[in-house]
Amino acid sequence: MKHFMSIAAVAAMTVMAAQTAKAEPQAEVLHWWTSGGEAKSVAVLQQEFASRGGVWTDMPVAGGGGDAAMTALRARVLSGNAPTAVQLKGPSIQEWYEEGVLADISAVAEANGWEDVLPANIAGHMKCEGSWCAAPVNVHRIDWIWANADVLAKNGIAMPATWDEFNAAADKLAAAGITPLAHGGQAWQDATVFEAVALGIGGPEFFQKAFVELDMATLKSSTMVAVFDQMRKMRGYVDADFSGRDWNLATAMVMNGEAAFQIMGDWAKGEFLAAGKRPGIDFLCASTPGEGFLYNVDSFAMFAVDGADKQAGQALLAELIVGQNFQKTFNLNKGSIPARTDVALDDFDPCAHASAQDMAASNYGGSLLPSYAHGMALRGAQAGAITDVVTAHFNSDMSSADAVEMLANAVANSL
Ligand code: BGC
Repeated sequence: MKHFMSIAAVAAMTVMAAQTAKAEPQAEVLHWWTSGGEAKSVAVLQQEFASRGGVWTDMPVAGGGGDAAMTALRARVLSGNAPTAVQLKGPSIQEWYEEGVLADISAVAEANGWEDVLPANIAGHMKCEGSWCAAPVNVHRIDWIWANADVLAKNGIAMPATWDEFNAAADKLAAAGITPLAHGGQAWQDATVFEAVALGIGGPEFFQKAFVELDMATLKSSTMVAVFDQMRKMRGYVDADFSGRDWNLATAMVMNGEAAFQIMGDWAKGEFLAAGKRPGIDFLCASTPGEGFLYNVDSFAMFAVDGADKQAGQALLAELIVGQNFQKTFNLNKGSIPARTDVALDDFDPCAHASAQDMAASNYGGSLLPSYAHGMALRGAQAGAITDVVTAHFNSDMSSADAVEMLANAVANSL
């Protein structure tokens, strides 16, 4: 039977939630927040945890997008020594729940009224068969384009509003000797660019059908061919040394004017801000051309562990993570917006305001969509199958038609 670890563990969590003071809260926290902006953000949680008497053992696993962190997690769980708290999101929360290794944090959620302060679609990702199994930190938007303001101004270029404008700007920049697109050739970064291009070229309904419903006709469509055509163009806009580069080094290329644009989730903004760059002055933000909003909600799941101190640590962490103060301070650093709906955005920058407004509008208009590249839309096997094709196409001279055929086959084989 698939469920939480044991009734005893649930009962222990409940008792512990009420008696946190009796055990010294301990938490070993596995996460992949190791860049400048990310480290500054997670430090907020460490400080809040310590100020409430918690002892934090850090387990950072470097590697953007979290692939390496997830490999480390699997090894720990298989060896029977799961970390107490893990940065985990989207359908992978459900996958771990089905293995029976997650702790139930419903007692904390109910005591702190999470149901009333979280949007229903975010809360949905945090629940396993009706019980709370994860705590949301934020909402990151994926479909962003970041630019060096000076580079654009000096080259007479405005933020592109269509893919044709993007291509025209990129051609002009390349002719001027500037790398148009800062990119790191890692599978998850290829997938990040790909899903922004797919949303822009295909539109929200196409995205939903292709990357949420895995509809074969859509995966094989001529629109998908057009998406790969644009990806081929993107490949021509990156520099020669793009392979393997970390995302934050790509962001640095935009900061120092070596490159003009980066397509990346708004953790890139955390990087600009950590380096003292000002939005609207030093760097520009805009959604990538097209309609819609690709969301990526970071969250933490607690793994079933023994020991009152660890369980007290889990309850305290869960409480802090969804707390108003943390949601504000963390997200100011991280580049995202709070998951809670009742955090005032007065101190947030214009990019964050745009994100919040666009999220509300796209929610209303039915174009608020989960990021496939950041593990919000699909289970690991399906997302991995798509990304393998995207990366194979990006790193070869494969035709768009061949890529589409390979995509349909890969998805069919992963089901
Ligand atoms: C996470 C972000 C993180 C980024 C780069 C994304 O998948 O949601 O929190 O900053 O990867 O590591």
